[in-house]
Amino acid sequence: MHSAFDINAIRAQFPILAREINGYALAYLDNAASAQKPTAVMDAMKGQSERAYANVHRGLHTMANETTEAFEAARGKVAAFLGAPSSSNIVFTRGATEALNLCAYGLSHLIEPGDEIIISQMEHHSNIVPWHFLRERYGAVIRFVPVTEEGALDLDAFKSMLGEKTKIASIVHMSNVLGTVNPIADIAKWAKAAGAVMISDGTQAAVHMDVNVQELGVDLYCMTGHKLYGPTAIGALYGTSDILEKMQPFNGGGEMIEDVFEDRVTYNEAPYKFEAGTPPILEAIGLGAAIDWITQFSSEDIRQHEMALYNAARDGLAGMNSVRVIGTTSDKGPVLSFTLEGAHAHDLAQILDKYGVAVRAGQHCTQPLMARYNIHSTARASFGIYNTLDEADRFVAAVRKAALFLS
Ligand SMILES: Cc1ncc(COP(=O)(O)O)c(C=O)c1O
Repeated sequence: MHSAFDINAIRAQFPILAREINGYALAYLDNAASAQKPTAVMDAMKGQSERAYANVHRGLHTMANETTEAFEAARGKVAAFLGAPSSSNIVFTRGATEALNLCAYGLSHLIEPGDEIIISQMEHHSNIVPWHFLRERYGAVIRFVPVTEEGALDLDAFKSMLGEKTKIASIVHMSNVLGTVNPIADIAKWAKAAGAVMISDGTQAAVHMDVNVQELGVDLYCMTGHKLYGPTAIGALYGTSDILEKMQPFNGGGEMIEDVFEDRVTYNEAPYKFEAGTPPILEAIGLGAAIDWITQFSSEDIRQHEMALYNAARDGLAGMNSVRVIGTTSDKGPVLSFTLEGAHAHDLAQILDKYGVAVRAGQHCTQPLMARYNIHSTARASFGIYNTLDEADRFVAAVRKAALFLS
């Protein structure tokens, strides 16, 4: 296989990949859950702790100023990475889940009973449950765009759902189970023409493709660090200046205020209005380092590499009658979900682990999607920049062995 970049040099930057699991070289294919971190990310966090660490924003001393500079520089890197007009459009959150909860809470004051929120059957629970809060608390009605058998969104159904009552549309950019990449620019155009606020969950998409929030035309877009070769507990929410102005703050406390009196409080401007308390400082700096690291490669090269591995794994399973691949659209990222007839996905994952192959098994926080396919769970192999063809082959061989044993 032709690979445009030096895979061995890339792997050397991820010391954890040299691990052995149960006597086998680790084949880490659980990247859609959390990817591993290169030394550049770990060094950035450690280096900041060793050189200049203090709380951000409030200091008048050198280290506080240096830490603030590094923290705000990371915000600028996220803004550039997502194609946002300015770093003031980027709110740091503790991950995509918190970003989506912030969207729901922040917009909740605009919701009247009977107002509609359109999401889809392929959403992660973090883009479902916050809207259920609005259903329970304010009488919102949630409508689910159906998913076709191949794993595409039924776009005609989406269009037919839009109407006067639609207040919000929140659609995942790339599914964490199906791998499907949704045409968010079109969806945003239709949603906004109907007067709805358009949100997209870019947690998976931001890892595997170039994202430009302005070209997508979304009002709000979220991403997370730990899938982008960065640390946990850090993510970001992009919002247009207009929507961030309209959204009410989520957490109250220090930093998000302008003035506090006994009888009233006034808020800081965005993005600080949404960042109460001490933020995850080192994690934000780590996310900035992850963005620096990943953007040294061409996203087209990454995509070609990852999809070659995906295709090899999918083709390797294709000959097995007992395997059913879930999510077969052509426009997709390197996520391979499947069921093995007669076997529970958890048992399958445990057997693969015996061969050093790490995959995820379960419902992947997508119960409505599992119900759509009438399945209980899937096993999921997800490929990242450092995976190899040999690992894809070892995955296929291990599934074959497991199938002999389980079914
Ligand atoms: C599509 C999607 N949305 C949201 C999330 C939640 O992300 P986080 O772990 O950053 O809260 C995930 C994580 O699996 C995801 O895959």
